[in-house]
Formats: sequence, C-alpha cells, structure tokens
Amino acid sequence: MDGATADATAAEVIFADRLVKQINTSGPADSANGSTVLAILDGLSLRVTAGESVAIVGASGSGKTTLLSLLAGLDLPSSGEIRLAGESLTALDEDGRARLRAGRVGFVFQSFQLLAGLTALENVMLPAELAGHADAEMRARATLDQVGLGQRLGHYPHQLSGGEQQRVAIARAFAGEPRILFADEPTGNLDLATGNRIVELLFELNRSRGTTLILVTHDNALAQRCQRVLTLKGGRLHE
Ligand SMILES: Nc1ncnc2c1ncn2[C@@H]1O[C@H](COP(=O)(O)OP(=O)(O)O)[C@@H](O)[C@H]1O
Ligand SMILES: [Mg+2]
Repeated sequence: MDGATADATAAEVIFADRLVKQINTSGPADSANGSTVLAILDGLSLRVTAGESVAIVGASGSGKTTLLSLLAGLDLPSSGEIRLAGESLTALDEDGRARLRAGRVGFVFQSFQLLAGLTALENVMLPAELAGHADAEMRARATLDQVGLGQRLGHYPHQLSGGEQQRVAIARAFAGEPRILFADEPTGNLDLATGNRIVELLFELNRSRGTTLILVTHDNALAQRCQRVLTLKGGRLHE
C-alpha cells in the first residue's frame, strides 16, 4: 500500500485539501459587531496530475486570484493543506515557500508585473538566477527567442507593447523550468488577436515542456481548450 501511495503522490503535482481562506472585514462604523468574517474559500479541494491543463472560471470576486496565490505559495490558507509535487507548502515558513516556488512554480499575471528598471533579458533571468541556475542568461536568451523576442533583449518594459510585455512575463515564468505554471487572466489586458497569440504560446510551452498549466480565465472558449474546466462558486470548485 505504501508503494501505491508514493506513486499517486509522484504523479500528483497539486494536492489541495479542504482549503479555507477567511478575511476579517471591518463592519460599518456604527456596527455593534465591529467586524465580520468573510470566507472566500470554504473547504475547497483540488487534485492535479503532472502535465494536465486545468481552467478555473467563476464570477469576478469568486476567489480565483485568492486560490492561485494559495496554490503558488504566495499566501497561506486559514486552514487546510497544500502539497506541491509531494512537498507540503503549508508546513513551510516564508523562506521555505519561496524556495519551493523558485524551483517549481511559474506565475503569469494579468498585469504582467515586470520590473520596470530591468531589461527584458534581466527580467527573464531573475527567477532562474534565484533558482540557482548557473546558465540563467543562456536560458533567458533561449526562452525569449522562443517567444519571439530575441531581438528585444535590451528593451525596458515601457519600450514594449502590452502583448510583448506579456510575452516577456511568460518567458520569465518558463525560464526557471517550473513544473507548474499559474496564469491569472493572462489575456485580460490584451486585445483579442494579441490575447490569442499569448494563449497559443502558453499551450505550446505547456506541451513542449510538459508543464502543468492552471489557467484562470473569463473566456469560455479559452477555458474549453484545457483538459478540465472547474468553476469556483461558493468557495469551492465544481466540475
Ligand atoms: N486582502 C483582502 N482583504 C479583503 N478582501 C479581500 C482580500 N483579498 C480578496 N478579497 C475579497 O475576496 C473576494 C475574492 O477576491 P479574488 O480572489 O480577487 O476574486 P477573483 O479573482 O475571482 O475576482 C473578493 O470579494 C475580494 O474583494
Ligand atoms: Mg482575480
């Protein structure tokens, strides 16, 4: 039985069990209660196996960004357990979570989140350097080439269009060779044609590198391209 358990864990890159995320919100100033507790996630569980692509959809404010930040180890749940590739995130301190993230997790945000003072090449090199890869620059150059920006290495974010900035962000996410890529509405700030090219790129990298892809999107057509579509509602995921 032990062998079976170990095998299941090896193939399971995300294990999230009964996650609860509560936020204390201040009540009205004249409220007798003072504050109320809002449960954003309410007993949510999720299992994802290696190489899978999973779309998470749901109304604005349903908790999608909150869920991704927990799964990526950027924030901690109020209760519940998260394991990434068999290692418990919820048992680690902040430094431990940062190390786990650096080696395993890539993140693409709606708002790109590039560092304005760094060139495209420097932005992409940063996580690979933090992950301790001696060949960070070589990887960054190769990945920028793969996203079609091999000629823009020395450009700063403000010198690039929105679509180009998101391609840099995607290159940055993939350069550390993450096992899991989280993308939070990656096309939300782009026009349709540019968004479609970004999506093609995400799926191509997902396939060519065997990365697990967790994609949050408002776009149903985009969601349907993933192997599984889950809806976040009432603090839980529904198939
Ligand atoms: N730090 C916070 N403090 C108070 N409320 C928050 C905080 N973070 C998120 N929320 C609230 O939690 C809910 C879920 O937010 P979010 O995860 O951003 O939803 P989504 O990404 O699905 O739009 C929203 O109602 C939001 O206002
Ligand atoms: Mg969001």
